[in-house]
Amino acid sequence: MKSRCKKEFPGGRLVLLAPPDAFVPRRFENVLRDGQRHGELLAALQRLRGELYLNEGAIRADQLSSDGRHRMAGDERAWHVVALDQHGQVAGCSRYLAHPNTVAFHRLAVRHAALAGSRRWGGLFRDAVAEDVERARRRGVSFVEVGGWALAPKLRRSREGLRIALATYGLARALGGCIGITTATRRHCSSEILRRIGGQALRTNRVNLPPYHDPQYGCEMEVLRFDSLQPSPQFESWVNDLCSYWLTAPVIRTEAARQSFSLQLHRLAAAVQPEWAFEDNLALAVQ
Ligand SMILES: CC(C)(COP(=O)(O)OP(=O)(O)OC[C@H]1O[C@@H](n2cnc3c(N)ncnc32)[C@H](O)[C@@H]1OP(=O)(O)O)[C@@H](O)C(=O)NCCC(=O)NCCS
Repeated sequence: MKSRCKKEFPGGRLVLLAPPDAFVPRRFENVLRDGQRHGELLAALQRLRGELYLNEGAIRADQLSSDGRHRMAGDERAWHVVALDQHGQVAGCSRYLAHPNTVAFHRLAVRHAALAGSRRWGGLFRDAVAEDVERARRRGVSFVEVGGWALAPKLRRSREGLRIALATYGLARALGGCIGITTATRRHCSSEILRRIGGQALRTNRVNLPPYHDPQYGCEMEVLRFDSLQPSPQFESWVNDLCSYWLTAPVIRTEAARQSFSLQLHRLAAAVQPEWAFEDNLALAVQ
């Protein structure tokens, strides 16, 4: 049982890394094009994840790059919430990988979860995910895989971990809303904490998908779903504050790249949709 004695809340700075090809809505006022800084922060958060996951046996040393990074597929296409300590060093992170709301299961990272390979649960898992993708489509929001949540040990038990998780909710709102999914470990009470802020068991056909053992990470895990409109009521105002925070916080992105025609179309669609969704979300959030 964890002791509930808290360290003083450090309240360091949160910054956002935007994917190179992302449409960044105009409401984000502080967008910086700095490819070098983007690369440094991405490398630093990958090293942080690498160190933490290796220390607790969730990954092997040979899964790290030669400079100690834990590079997850999709990192380059994801948004990253980055917590800096008082020295400007990366001390925490989470990642937000947005998909089109028509995405097929075989294109999602969760397809690698052990649950997907279960003879008993695999089919229900795919059905439950497909239902959420369809919910996202009907609402006109993205379907998002969240994950990579990590905090340096020196900042544990300080509410900083909670702040990073809630900032990810806030980001979802600032980007126009989402239905999200994550595979959460039961280590460090991570999945319990995520349930407490609004994570729910994945459900289909009136059946909740159960926790499962994932040999890849050597731990018990749960698949949780999130709805950006429905964090736990007790965290609603904190999520709203963090949504507002992102509108003026530093958003660091790489220099503009040449875009393919299909990418331009995708960005155009994203540009139209979330503006409405953002307003709808805010209207709902303040009710
Ligand atoms: C997961 C992680 C970010 C959590 O950060 P942390 O500092 O250890 O979290 P805390 O223990 O301070 O808990 C955060 C909040 O959840 C609450 N909490 C902790 N255990 C809980 C439980 N079992 N049930 C409900 N709430 C719980 C805490 O009380 C705290 O809320 P409070 O500030 O209102 O008291 C951190 O442990 C970490 O980086 N672990 C390694 C990587 C990892 O496992 N990532 C998760 C991948 S899913």
